[in-house]
Amino acid sequence: MRGIVLAGGNGTRLQPLSFVGSKQLAPCYDKPIIYYPLSMLMLAGISEVLIISRPDDLPQFRRLFGDGSDLGMSIAYTAQDEPRGIADAFLVGADHIRGEDNALILGDNLFHGANLPSLLRRSAAKLNGCVLFGHHVADPERFGVAEVDDEGRLVAIEEKPDRPRSNLAIPGLYFFDGGVVDVAKRLTPSARGELEITDVLRAYLAEGRADLAWLGRGVTWLDTGTHESLLEAALFVRDVQRRQGTRIGCVEEIAMHMGFITPDDCYRLGERMASSPYGRYVMDCARSYEKVPASARAAAGWT
Ligand code: TTP
Repeated sequence: MRGIVLAGGNGTRLQPLSFVGSKQLAPCYDKPIIYYPLSMLMLAGISEVLIISRPDDLPQFRRLFGDGSDLGMSIAYTAQDEPRGIADAFLVGADHIRGEDNALILGDNLFHGANLPSLLRRSAAKLNGCVLFGHHVADPERFGVAEVDDEGRLVAIEEKPDRPRSNLAIPGLYFFDGGVVDVAKRLTPSARGELEITDVLRAYLAEGRADLAWLGRGVTWLDTGTHESLLEAALFVRDVQRRQGTRIGCVEEIAMHMGFITPDDCYRLGERMASSPYGRYVMDCARSYEKVPASARAAAGWT
């Protein structure tokens, strides 16, 4: 499966921060926001990733990840000239998708929780059309919402409904088969002039090829698109990391445990940042690699 991180957009709600650079490169506690969605793709087993962003911002992303080889990955970059909507990712990224199964994640979404990596890998393995995820939220009217029948099967998708028929919001992570590019080509822009991801999901649903995977209560989904939500996400990351002594979205650690790089590679990546607690954590992870028992690896979702 191939991955896309969509990291462009206007970022109007984060102005003036977003005047000076991509919001997905803004810090969320100890790392740039994009580390969180990128680490989700890695945990799904994806090592070939395309980052889509605004033309002016791409050099900064490239500076951060290069060609991805430091992480044992292949990371490519393509510009989206104008923010034409989330589903535009399939047109901008068509050459990367190459007709294969693919995962799209929004560059400002943060997920954390138990069993998430195994759920992602299971969902990817049984992909037949598309998989979207459902997450219980208190305020579904702010999101795309999944309507389900008594069996919990997806029956409809509504975009920011005034009266939501469920509390199941659809987060910014989706798996599609290679046919998604053709689906996107047939879309007409919405009233706000964008190619809507909801329309893509509805097209798959109409063919009976859209599966809803439930993110359980042990999963936290946060977005970082406003000053308030960015601060909340940063505090969440700090609190969990401080309590557990582990790090969320540490791409070097994940790359090592997913087998993309060796512990020696990981140690060297940490060494480059040895002055920061993050860098020292990466070095510690590499040093203790051999000592992590199989059960802990399985619990972390690395196997
Ligand atoms: P949004 O947060 O909905 O839009 P935005 O980034 O333009 O921000 P704002 O509403 O504050 O103006 O976008 C969700 C994610 O998708 C975010 O990571 C940006 C990305 N995105 C693109 O890369 N290209 C696009 O055309 C759109 C609409 C969004």
